[in-house]
Amino acid sequence: MNIRVFDTPHDAGIYVAALAEQVIQSRPDPVLGLATGSTPIPFYDALVGLHRCGLDLSHVTTINLDEYIGLPPTHEQSYAHFMHTHLFSRTNIRSENIHIPNGMADDLAAECARYDDVIRAHPIHLQILGIGVNGHIGFNEPDDLLLSKTHVVELRPETVRSNARFFERIEDVPRRAITMGVQAILQADQIVLMAFGPEKADIIARAVLGEVRTDVPASILQLHKRVTVVLDRASAQGL
Ligand code: GLP
Repeated sequence: MNIRVFDTPHDAGIYVAALAEQVIQSRPDPVLGLATGSTPIPFYDALVGLHRCGLDLSHVTTINLDEYIGLPPTHEQSYAHFMHTHLFSRTNIRSENIHIPNGMADDLAAECARYDDVIRAHPIHLQILGIGVNGHIGFNEPDDLLLSKTHVVELRPETVRSNARFFERIEDVPRRAITMGVQAILQADQIVLMAFGPEKADIIARAVLGEVRTDVPASILQLHKRVTVVLDRASAQGL
C-alpha cells in the first residue's frame, strides 16, 4: 500500500482530486466509485474547484458505494442528497451517468442484483473509500465473512452511534443499508482509502499493518495491487 500523509484534509483532498483528474482526462469513459461521510468532502470540494477551472466531467460515470434503506433521495441524510449537495449539483456530471443504490426499492434483492449489473457494465477505474471507526468500507461491516456482491446489511451498533452525529436523534438513524460488496471494490483498477482525525488512527493502523481479517473489513485492501492510503497527521499517528 502506498501511504501519503498530509498536513490537512484540505491538502489531502487536492491530492485525491489530482488523481481523479488524471483518470478523467486519460479515458473516454472514466468511472469513479464514490463514497460519502465527512472524509471525502475535501476531495469533492477540490474536484469542484478543478471543474470551475475547466475540467469537464460530462463523460464521467459515478457509482456510489451505498445508501441507507428507507430514506428517500430528498431526505437530507440520504447519500443521494449528500452527493447532489457536495458534487453533482456543482459540476456537469450528467444525471444519467449517476448511480446510487435505491434504498426505497420495494424489492431490495432485485435492487441489489440491478446494482451489480450496473457495476458489471461500468468497471470502476478509481474507487474512493472512507473508513468507519470499526473498519467498515462502504457498509461492509465487520463479520465472520465479507459478502462479494451488493447486499442489504444490518448496521452495527457502533456504526449507528457514529453516524448519529448527522441526525437529530439516534432513533432516526436507519438500521439497514444497501452496500456494494467487496468484490466490486477490489475489482477497481485503483483504490484511494481516505481517513482523517485521531479517532481513525487505531483502525487505520489495524487495517494497514495488521492481519487481513473479516472483522477489519478495510484490511482486505492489502490484497489489492494499487491502493493509496491518504491520511492527515492525526489519522497516521499509529503507523
Ligand atoms: C459511513 C459510510 C462509509 C464512510 C463512513 C465514515 O458509514 N457508509 O462509506 O466511510 O461513514 O464516515 P466519516 O467519513 O464521516 O467518518
